[in-house]
Amino acid sequence: MAVPGKFITLEGGEGGGKSTQARALAQSLRMKGLEVVLTREPGGSPWAERMRKALLTQEGRALAPVEQAIMFAAARADHVDTVILPALAEGRWVVCDRFADSTEAYQGPLGTPAEVLELLKMVAVGPTRPDLTFVLDLPPQVGLARAAEREALDPFEADELAVHEARRAVFLDIAAREPHRCVVVDATAAPDEIGAAIWSVVRERLLGTLAAI
Ligand code: TYD
Repeated sequence: MAVPGKFITLEGGEGGGKSTQARALAQSLRMKGLEVVLTREPGGSPWAERMRKALLTQEGRALAPVEQAIMFAAARADHVDTVILPALAEGRWVVCDRFADSTEAYQGPLGTPAEVLELLKMVAVGPTRPDLTFVLDLPPQVGLARAAEREALDPFEADELAVHEARRAVFLDIAAREPHRCVVVDATAAPDEIGAAIWSVVRERLLGTLAAI
């Protein structure tokens, strides 16, 4: 029996292990026999990956906040239209490393008005909202230290600590506003523990409803 596709996103600041957890989650879902598309933002479709290359540069970071928000949303619109929607329509599950909440949390505190962010979300995402979003939460100092160990910081990661604190607050605010969609996970825990926390929520909220699994 075909089961309906579900859309899961992972959000949060730097160094919380989103990419690792997205991979692990996709793997666990595949073990259940589900077809999974593992994707990311900015990027995820050929055109959006081209925009990613332009955005994650000093030049991209130097754009006005509203311009950044428009660019991230434009990349998202293509990703939704060409990858996410078709996958969900075919009954696949989509696991996405960052999505629209990242624009609110990153471009919002830099000075993009909330109404603009809301409008861009309507245009880029439309009704395709995630079924479940994990906010991997940790103090920015901890996350940035981890990220810096791993690789050179991208221009958004290199923002001041106060900006990262503001982003954390936005993610937590989104989670408080939309508790039916969002689950905050303590990302200071060990990766295995974070993975177990995520999996138990997915089982309870999404897999539990599927008689076929
Ligand atoms: P990435 O290498 O994917 O970083 P991370 O490992 O932190 O997920 O780079 C994505 C960067 O782009 C990250 O610093 C957050 C930023 N970003 C925005 O500023 N706005 C957005 O809408 C998105 C999706 C990402």
